[in-house]
Amino acid sequence: MSPQSLSLRALLFLGLWHTGRRGLSSASELQHQPKKIAVVGAGIGGTAAAYYLRQEFGAGVKIDVFESDTVGGRLATVKIGDHEYETGGSMIHPLNLHMKHFIEKLGIPVRKDVDSKMAIFDGKELMFEESEWFIVNFIRMLWQYGFNFIRMQMWVESILDKFMRIYQYQQYGYSFSNVERLLHAIGGNSFLTLMNQTLEETMIGEGFSQVFLNEIVAPITRVNYGQSVRIHGFVGAVSLAGADSGLWAVEGGNKRVCSGLLYHSKSELIPAKVTSIAVKVRPSKTGATSSFYEVNYYGESGSAHSLYDIVVIATPLHQGKSDITFSGFSPPIPSNYPGRYHQTVTTLVHGLLNMSYLGTTQPASEFTVSDILTTDSKDAFINSLSSINPVHIPKGYKQPPASHTKVWKVFSQQPLSQEQLQKIFLSWDSVSESRWLAYPAYRPPHRNTPPFILHDRLYYLNAVEWAASAIEMSSISARNVALLAHHRWHGQIAKIDQEDLHTRLRGEL
Ligand SMILES: Cc1cc2nc3c(=O)[nH]c(=O)nc-3n(C[C@H](O)[C@H](O)[C@H](O)COP(=O)(O)OP(=O)(O)OC[C@H]3O[C@@H](n4cnc5c(N)ncnc54)[C@H](O)[C@@H]3O)c2cc1C
Ligand SMILES: *[C@@H]1O[C@H](CO)[C@@H](O)[C@H](O)[C@H]1NC(C)=O
Ligand SMILES: *[C@@H]1O[C@H](CO)[C@@H](O)[C@H](O)[C@H]1NC(C)=O
Repeated sequence: MSPQSLSLRALLFLGLWHTGRRGLSSASELQHQPKKIAVVGAGIGGTAAAYYLRQEFGAGVKIDVFESDTVGGRLATVKIGDHEYETGGSMIHPLNLHMKHFIEKLGIPVRKDVDSKMAIFDGKELMFEESEWFIVNFIRMLWQYGFNFIRMQMWVESILDKFMRIYQYQQYGYSFSNVERLLHAIGGNSFLTLMNQTLEETMIGEGFSQVFLNEIVAPITRVNYGQSVRIHGFVGAVSLAGADSGLWAVEGGNKRVCSGLLYHSKSELIPAKVTSIAVKVRPSKTGATSSFYEVNYYGESGSAHSLYDIVVIATPLHQGKSDITFSGFSPPIPSNYPGRYHQTVTTLVHGLLNMSYLGTTQPASEFTVSDILTTDSKDAFINSLSSINPVHIPKGYKQPPASHTKVWKVFSQQPLSQEQLQKIFLSWDSVSESRWLAYPAYRPPHRNTPPFILHDRLYYLNAVEWAASAIEMSSISARNVALLAHHRWHGQIAKIDQEDLHTRLRGEL
């Protein structure tokens, strides 16, 4: 290696090159801003990307967001009677800082909290039922599972601690070119190892008991990801964090954040289905050639296409999810990456619960459990059964006991048959079914995840779902992709894929 390249590397490492260059070239940078950016998909990922792209590139760029269905994507509600209920992504963790930031920025309140109680059902009877008293639950857990329960909370917290570093990195403008690099930057090799093992292997290795895995951990992975403890350890930890207290949701429905971000980012919503993306080379004024992306789409007024400087794909490139073909790229970009999405069916039933289905003789008028999780058994055709609250909580609302007709949400892998509904409910007056290709089918050891960078200025946000699919994960990926797009446009490579950020940024605090 020549001394020259060595010193350049040293400068890059120190980040001096970047700051120096920015100081000198800000005038010419202004002339070289992108003119048009396309985002494909108006779920939380795409709308958050529009928000962060606006933040990075300023007021001058035109941002178009394509959506073939409804704004919100997997954040969706349905109306039953006079109220709306969440059918897709519903709960947000208290430490999901981007989602918190969005609702503050948009001035949307958090939904009022309603008390909830959990039980675990093995397909025949209720094995565990939460009491109203914290101390009673604590003693029961200790009695049945020893210190497993407390250790699980500590284990999840230690992972969450490291996970939170991503917010600091992004605050300082750092970005990553793929999922593995991002995970490595926040959690080192231990996070990559988590992706390579099942949650079961990981937790047994940490000394948790098989009984605890079957009776507590599996019901949690089943309700959150519709899958067993054979999902990988990282998404498993995210799933367990989803059983923490203090979970929240957005007043009026989580999807409001998506339309709010679209509006706030001053981007244009184009109600159309993107069918293909082609790379086109054109001569420019200076004589050099420049490349553009041609986005072909099909909307209300037929087929059309537009050219863009930067494109962000914010929908999964997987079987049954998006159907976008890529042409003119070398190496080629596939329409579908390997792996598949797992089906979860959400069935909302306005009806009366059959208490005998739960194998209990308690009177329904005294049964106030809201979330019934299930163990992984042959008898269980449902993943969970919850009594849910509307997205807007009326004044003086209290969740009625099971003796009242109310709205229940059932998660299952297959649509419920008439016979199955008759087992769970004594009667009902409305049933609403949503079939989702909900999240990846997680099967470790995990081979390479798709990249965030598909081509020079073509980015793929949903690659992040192979680490874990969640509202906040798409938001984090949106910010990462916006930063990547900005740094690559301006050649600021010192802000991409840096190692040791944790130790380096400690000094900057
Ligand atoms: C039943 C269920 C429960 C869940 N529960 C939770 C939870 O409690 N907490 C949590 O954090 N997460 C939860 N999740 C996961 C969470 O909902 C998702 O990770 C998140 O919403 C993904 O957002 P996204 O914007 O990345 O993708 P999506 O929401 O899927 O958005 C992609 C958008 O792109 C559009 N699109 C697709 N193809 C094209 C095309 N060719 N042209 C134009 N537009 C296109 C789609 O219509 C869609 O609107 C749940 C998911 C499901 C299904
Ligand atoms: C994960 O597994 C793959 C293949 O099974 C292997 O190539 C890779 O090195 C592993 N990574 C880690 C961090 O264990
Ligand atoms: C209620 O559940 C019990 C036990 O599973 C079942 O035998 C019965 O058919 C169900 N339905 C009614 C209407 O009781």
